[in-house]
Amino acid sequence: MRDTAGREYIDCTAQAWTLNVGYCHPDVLAAVAEQMRHLTHIRYGFPTIPRIKLINRLASLFPGNLRRVALNNQGGGTAIEAAMKLAMINRPGATTFLVAYRGYHGATLATISASHYMPGLMRFSGWGLEHIVRFPYPYCYRCPIHRDPATCGLACLELVEQAILYGANTPIAGLIIEPMQGAGGQIPTPPGYLAGLKELCHRYDILLIYDESQTAFGRVGAMSAAEYYGVPPDIMVLTKGLGGGFPVGAVVAREDLKGFTYLEEHTTFGANPVAFAAALAAIEVTLRLDLPGRARLLGQRATARLRQMQEDHPLIGDVRGSGLFIGVELVEDPETKVPATERATALVELAMERGVIFDLDMPNVVHGLPTRRNVVKIKPPLTINEEQLDRALDVFEDVLEGVARLPDSALEHIRRKMIESAMPR
Ligand SMILES: Cc1ncc(COP(=O)(O)O)c(C=O)c1O
Repeated sequence: MRDTAGREYIDCTAQAWTLNVGYCHPDVLAAVAEQMRHLTHIRYGFPTIPRIKLINRLASLFPGNLRRVALNNQGGGTAIEAAMKLAMINRPGATTFLVAYRGYHGATLATISASHYMPGLMRFSGWGLEHIVRFPYPYCYRCPIHRDPATCGLACLELVEQAILYGANTPIAGLIIEPMQGAGGQIPTPPGYLAGLKELCHRYDILLIYDESQTAFGRVGAMSAAEYYGVPPDIMVLTKGLGGGFPVGAVVAREDLKGFTYLEEHTTFGANPVAFAAALAAIEVTLRLDLPGRARLLGQRATARLRQMQEDHPLIGDVRGSGLFIGVELVEDPETKVPATERATALVELAMERGVIFDLDMPNVVHGLPTRRNVVKIKPPLTINEEQLDRALDVFEDVLEGVARLPDSALEHIRRKMIESAMPR
């Protein structure tokens, strides 16, 4: 990436974890140019060749019987709402949804409610909350029930069952979960958790909805987190990497579920043939270059190096993730695990000055105090080469040394800035 002053950057964010095939992949550009010669807009009711091809492509990409597809050109929040509507169609009378602590599903009104509270969105956060019940996400590094992941037997699933039994006043249509949490802190669900969750959902006639906005299309070292864990959901939500840089969202659902009637899911711009052509090209690039396999190998390389760094740097509390879906949690002390929020912010700023773009988990201010935002995300395009990845990690390590030595006055200054920027205008 190059800025207007000609400075070069290695982008470890892939622009909101979207450009899995890289910036301006030539195949995507060619498909878009070709499609633009024929048709740039058509209303939702008219099928087009790119739309039908994309529906068929998506219907063959994921495990389980996920063959019903609805597309949009708005992205993840809209696709999550479509998944919620689909669940309500299939569970008539049920309007409640279970969602996880720290989850993020979008900034539309319904998805703000379904997401963990974010300071910038606080004035809208109360709307629709009567339909939402939360349960603790299985965050093993900070286990919500203080168990040892090696011996806990996934006891946290009992908390989900309690939320089902006692948390909701109305029937539950669906449970929405990121199989690996992104904005909440790069937190993979532990092995066995999703299988247990699915069994629980089905026992209570609740549809299991995966938000794979971030995890699909190679990012985690497989085509989807459903494939990675071997546990398909009933409904899957896709966006980001799907469009190869163009806005596409999708809901992919079990074939035996009822679909939408025409008016139940439509928008003026929801069937854009150019964006669908881009998505088709991006999927082919992902498969041809085996980007899932590439992400897996590069991810192993990066996490091995980060774990090595962890041995010398007490600031690194945890290194987690798979593929190029990596989180490095910074803590003031590995015993107390106090989040090193200010140092993480400084790390991102200093790395940017050194030409590497990292990002952090989402901001949060509770009762005037910044919490978390201490997880550095490493999620570059899956086309990044070894040299670029090594360079990004060199910068990470150099900058880490610097932030470990920051004086209290600098940390206080960062804290004040964080609180001010989190307050609603
Ligand atoms: C897991 C997840 N779900 C949903 C969304 C919302 O997607 P969009 O911003 O396209 O509405 C995001 C965006 O970051 C996300 O990370």
